[in-house]
Amino acid sequence: MPRTGENVGNYIYIAECSDGTWYTGWTTDPKRRIRVHNSGKGAKYTRSRLPVRLIYTEEYETAVQAQRREYEIKQFSRRQKEKLIQQFSGRQKEKLMNTEQFFENVLSVRLTEDRRALDIIDQTLLPGTIRRINLNTKEEIWEAIKKLRVRGAPAIGVSAAYGMAVLSAQSKAGDFGTFYKEFTQLKEYLASSRPTAVNLFWALNRMDACAKAAGEQGKSLDEIKELLYKEADAIREEDVQISRNIGEIGFRLLKDLKKDGKPIGILTHCNAGTLATSKYGTATAPMYMALEHGWAGSDMHVYCDETRPLLQGARLTSFELNAAGITTTVQCDNMASLLMKSGKIDIIFVGCDRVAANGDAANKIGTSSVAILAKHYGIPFYVCAPSSTIDLKTPTGDQIPIEMRDPDEVTQMWYKERMAPEGIDVFNPAFDVTDHSLITGMITEKGLCTEPYGDAFVKLGIE
Ligand code: MRU
Repeated sequence: MPRTGENVGNYIYIAECSDGTWYTGWTTDPKRRIRVHNSGKGAKYTRSRLPVRLIYTEEYETAVQAQRREYEIKQFSRRQKEKLIQQFSGRQKEKLMNTEQFFENVLSVRLTEDRRALDIIDQTLLPGTIRRINLNTKEEIWEAIKKLRVRGAPAIGVSAAYGMAVLSAQSKAGDFGTFYKEFTQLKEYLASSRPTAVNLFWALNRMDACAKAAGEQGKSLDEIKELLYKEADAIREEDVQISRNIGEIGFRLLKDLKKDGKPIGILTHCNAGTLATSKYGTATAPMYMALEHGWAGSDMHVYCDETRPLLQGARLTSFELNAAGITTTVQCDNMASLLMKSGKIDIIFVGCDRVAANGDAANKIGTSSVAILAKHYGIPFYVCAPSSTIDLKTPTGDQIPIEMRDPDEVTQMWYKERMAPEGIDVFNPAFDVTDHSLITGMITEKGLCTEPYGDAFVKLGIE
């Protein structure tokens, strides 16, 4: 219960006293001198004022939240506190002051100020280097998508939309017919970069519909170019709201699972996070929404599958969740089973690249094994699916095209020395399809769907 009659503050802290004991309290300002009144188990309230060193602080929106958290941390073992402090110093090192600032720093894709280029964070360099690069030719945009500098279904869609706006603005065509012919060629070129994520085609078709409608309305080419920028902005802004809606639904599921004082164990595969979208991610959105609702990062423990072969889980998901202050562990993909068996996982959230009309869902290779394990251990398995990822024209997962990638990604990309014999045959599909019968529910921005998925999509007005 919140205390009254004392200074009420919205910071909690852990201070180390000169006798080596740790003291947890709350304060209005952690920069002020912290006074420790008592220390050590069973010590009397003595106002001993031991000299202290502040080793951990957390800010909350309200004093009530801070005091709840203070109460929780007081129950923590020394080891749990050590872990908390470790994460805190990791975050300090990266100078990521808060989650909002972090979202801004790692925004997957935006336009440059003069709108002549795409400005993306090069995800192939993460987590070691945060570098933004500009792309303004069709080849650069295509290569960035193909090479996974920008990746994740929604972020690929947004990049393609901005790509079409930037490239269309460069057109020297003097009439709509010529402009639209060039436009169609560019669209087909970008569409050839990756085959599985349907958001790419969805976004390109939306840009196409925008150009076509404006041409039919007799708009000037300058007006059409401006409308294309607006449409790309709209796709990006809608993506933020879609993630929020998915996050709110997912957060309700987390709340239902929350047991007193115990962090919820969440497993995720690949990266369906902020880096893969325009802000909150899809599979990570429930966690980010939980933070917005006042949960502490330690109320959740997210286990990130490393995600062979391109390590999106280890390099990207653990990076962003850890920076946001969420308790995060990375494990090799083949360790997920043991985690599930030992009761560490309460719920699983994954993203998707394309959902067929019957609910079969394509996502990063390895996702279907996670779903099979989850079924075996009775753990709820949710696919977070923006409606732009649901492709009703594809009847079942069997018709979803699966991208095959370079064998080097498996045999040598991450190693000092090649780890398989020269010339060996390599199987390297980028995605697999999880059968709809293994999916507990599909979280779309319009609502939660369960079997039969075909009917559920119709009910939510997904076309
Ligand atoms: O090959 P990638 O890294 O683009 O694969 C990404 C995934 O599989 C994601 O889970 C999916 O695109 C959803 S992103 C919100």
